[in-house]
Amino acid sequence: MSTSVIVPAAGSGTRLGENTPKAFVDLAGRTILARTVDAVQSSDRIDLDRIVVVVPDELTERTRAELSGSACPIDVIVGGAERTDSVRAGLARATGEYVLVHDAARPFTPAAVFERVVGALRAGHRAVVPGLPVVDTLKRVDGDRRVLQTVDRSVLRAIQTPQGFHADALAQAYAATDDVATDDAGLAERAGIDVHVVDGDPDAFKITTPWDLRLARAIAKGWD
Ligand code: C5P
Repeated sequence: MSTSVIVPAAGSGTRLGENTPKAFVDLAGRTILARTVDAVQSSDRIDLDRIVVVVPDELTERTRAELSGSACPIDVIVGGAERTDSVRAGLARATGEYVLVHDAARPFTPAAVFERVVGALRAGHRAVVPGLPVVDTLKRVDGDRRVLQTVDRSVLRAIQTPQGFHADALAQAYAATDDVATDDAGLAERAGIDVHVVDGDPDAFKITTPWDLRLARAIAKGWD
């Protein structure tokens, strides 16, 4: 079954504290986005139709130039104010039976994670997310930082991307609402679609904070 991958890369990345939109920050000589697009193509067990990269308006030409050597067809399009808007724009270009959505900010995601997600789609799940057990103790707090409750972490998972969908399920999820969500499976859940969790991987971490960026730069140096 052929697969499109939408890579939302249109965020400003203000939590990172760099002057460049997050996906365009340098990691040991290459942008986060270029490394992520490589990761998307790292498995030869996925029948990849196209990659739809969603970027800020002013960075479309630069992105096309940077990704022009890719083996897989790449569409570069303009994103929106919220992540959900950017994915919605990408969805209009997606082709194939399966659609994956993979954050541009997760450049070290192993091929095995993409394969686990697609494997679960092939097995019949309509929506699939990679997740990790939560290792820290979790507490619910109020606005005054008072602890209200310790939460049972054994039933929780930290959810990553790529998130995979049968194309009709993702279209159904996005057609059902104009709400925004921090991930695509959240919209699928609201549309009544069952979401299945496969094992994620610590290497699929999202670069969000300056500490994440330091870690990513150290990893990138080791990888090259
Ligand atoms: O902000 P956050 O780290 O959750 O963003 C996750 C991904 O969504 C990033 O790759 C970011 O570039 C992308 N995004 C987007 N359009 C937005 C906001 C975020 O494509 N308006």
